[in-house]
Amino acid sequence: MKLPRQFFKPLAIGAPQPLRELPLRLERMIHFVPPHLEKLRAKVPQLAREVDVVLGNLEDAIPADAKDAARAGFIEMARATDFGMTGLWTRINALNSPWVLDDITQLVAAIGDKLDVIMLPKVDGAWDIHYLDQLLAQLEAKHAVKKPILIHAILETAEGVNNVEAIASASPRMHGMSLGPADLAASRAMKTTRVGGGHPEYKVIADPGAAGGPRAAYQQDLWHYTIARMVDACAAAGIKPFYGPFGDFSDPEACEVQFRNAFLLGCVGAWSLHPSQVAIAKRVFSPDPAEVAFAQKILKAMPDGTGAVMIDGKMQDDATWKQAKVVVDLAKLVATKDPDLAAQYGF
Ligand code: GLV
Ligand code: MG
Repeated sequence: MKLPRQFFKPLAIGAPQPLRELPLRLERMIHFVPPHLEKLRAKVPQLAREVDVVLGNLEDAIPADAKDAARAGFIEMARATDFGMTGLWTRINALNSPWVLDDITQLVAAIGDKLDVIMLPKVDGAWDIHYLDQLLAQLEAKHAVKKPILIHAILETAEGVNNVEAIASASPRMHGMSLGPADLAASRAMKTTRVGGGHPEYKVIADPGAAGGPRAAYQQDLWHYTIARMVDACAAAGIKPFYGPFGDFSDPEACEVQFRNAFLLGCVGAWSLHPSQVAIAKRVFSPDPAEVAFAQKILKAMPDGTGAVMIDGKMQDDATWKQAKVVVDLAKLVATKDPDLAAQYGF
């Protein structure tokens, strides 16, 4: 294990100083763009005003013969667009692919100062993060990049889940982690072809009644265990957990439930793969105005965060004060980007 004193030193002479705290950014949805398609690239300036993060996807879903065009397209859209406070991310190809070295070297050379976060797929262990960390430091030094490019891991292999704590704390470059339910299902040999969401056959049933008759069945959450592990690993390491993709665009209700379960468990955002999922993510990952109003009541009633009070019949103490602070802090961050919600929160 690296010693604490060494942990925050740059990994290459001339590379920027690693960050001690993550930048405070609103990241309710990471919106995926296939950058080899000119028609979709043309929409990016408008998109950048509507979403929290624009991600140029270079990995899965980009055909092998379009990998170079996607990389070039991403560089072009990154250069052509003013992203303001909207994040600019990319998902590079996996470390064992023939495209990834060009992805990393060309992107840092061309747009190193504009790129906020690199999403790394199929992370199995801390060694994958260490490799990218070192390479990025060398390239940042070579191209005089001024701020460190952060790394976001996709949790989508069984080995990665086994090593989730080590991945979360592998480097000060770690921004966060997303659950990748499609690759993870394949890696674990789960018997589902869905991308996220539930499965009608994963359920518990009620005991048989004395009179016979049909037994009540309740669908269970296939992803609860992994999301909970990921949230604990990320929270303990001071980085951000996200839910990943929801593949059934024809079922917005199920998408919303999947996103909300992740939000309630501690995730800060999810991927949007289709424009219709942007509004869902905004709705889910912005706290409910009624909840914000109640949280503000708690903070007001306990100005120094200690003691115990009753509000609307509910006991409040130091711990609920901290819960209230999570909700109000998030609402304040949302309010900086969303004037409608700012008004509803009364800020
Ligand atoms: C995302 O990359 C997934 O595999 O679900
Ligand atoms: Mg995947």
